[in-house]
Amino acid sequence: MKIRLRTIAIALACAAAAAWAFVYSGRYNIAATVQHTEPVYRLLDYVMRRSVKLRTGSAQPPDLADAQRIRNGFRLYRAKCLQCHGAPGIAPQDFALGMTPAPANLVATAREWPAAEIFWVARYGIKMSGMPAWQYRLSEREIWDVVAFVKALPTLSPTDYERWNDRPPAPATASPADALSAESATLGDPKAGRRAIDQHLCATCHRIPGITGAIKDVGPPLNGIGTRKYIAGVLPNNPANMIRWLRHPKQVDPLSAMPDLNVQDKDARDMAAYLYTLKDLD
Ligand code: HEC
Ligand code: HEC
Repeated sequence: MKIRLRTIAIALACAAAAAWAFVYSGRYNIAATVQHTEPVYRLLDYVMRRSVKLRTGSAQPPDLADAQRIRNGFRLYRAKCLQCHGAPGIAPQDFALGMTPAPANLVATAREWPAAEIFWVARYGIKMSGMPAWQYRLSEREIWDVVAFVKALPTLSPTDYERWNDRPPAPATASPADALSAESATLGDPKAGRRAIDQHLCATCHRIPGITGAIKDVGPPLNGIGTRKYIAGVLPNNPANMIRWLRHPKQVDPLSAMPDLNVQDKDARDMAAYLYTLKDLD
């Protein structure tokens, strides 16, 4: 028994060393011009499908045949999805042709996937694939609108799509997140704030405790921001000013290198709540 355990331990150690040696050697080619091998691709695709299915749950889609919904979905699809996924008669943009994995043609997806799964992927995105999460950019209703349009894709010929293109644009529906008053300064939920920070490129410029990969110094580090006197050296540090800064840094300081990241009101409140948990300087 003892010997067997030792043999297993040695075998595991050898396997780990071999794996590390392979990684360290740089032999794995990460170039996007080289496709995944068939087994790796099949495995990753299967992992993705199972993961989506597990998380979709039993939420009932709204009425996806509604004409107004499909029309609004078309407008959003053209603005947010067309560049990568193309449309009947329209190729994706050149950058999308260079992506690995290549963005799927959604006509096939619309035929094969239940609407709720398309909704899930559009809302939460797919890690390590280039498929963005739209949760922080589109409201739930808007994502259902896009899904309604995607579901209608298989019925559209290139000529149909062109005709849609020529129609006057449907009026934009305001997203409910914007309807919240920007006046009151109530903080949101710090946990949601941490996720929202992860979804707005904050980590590409700031050191932020608790955020994976947030180790860059383009802007000031945010440790201890909860106890600092000023925000960006100009605004007294209080919740109202913090929310304002996160939403409209350019309004506060037109010369600031911090860009306006289109942060929604609710997300700014959640982010601010998280930032106020950062009290320590290290
Ligand atoms: C920056 C490029 C990009 C944009 C923009 C984009 N996607 Fe994707 N999408 C991808 C990539 C890459 C994948 C993963 C590869 C794949 O399976 O297609 C993907 C996968 C998907 C899938 C799973 C398809 C399948 O059969 O595997 C759906 C559904 C989807 N995207 C919907 C959308 C919708 C809806 C939008 C617009 C709101 C959108 N995507 C915008 C790149 C993009
Ligand atoms: C392109 C880089 C960049 C991105 C992305 C960015 N910031 Fe900044 N941020 C800066 C810079 C530069 C400053 C300093 C601005 C100044 O003093 O005018 C700053 C200042 C700040 C401050 C005030 C810090 C202090 O010490 O007073 C906070 C808080 C902040 N950013 C939070 C965020 C959050 C949260 C996000 C994501 C929503 C974010 N930033 C995204 C560059 C960035």
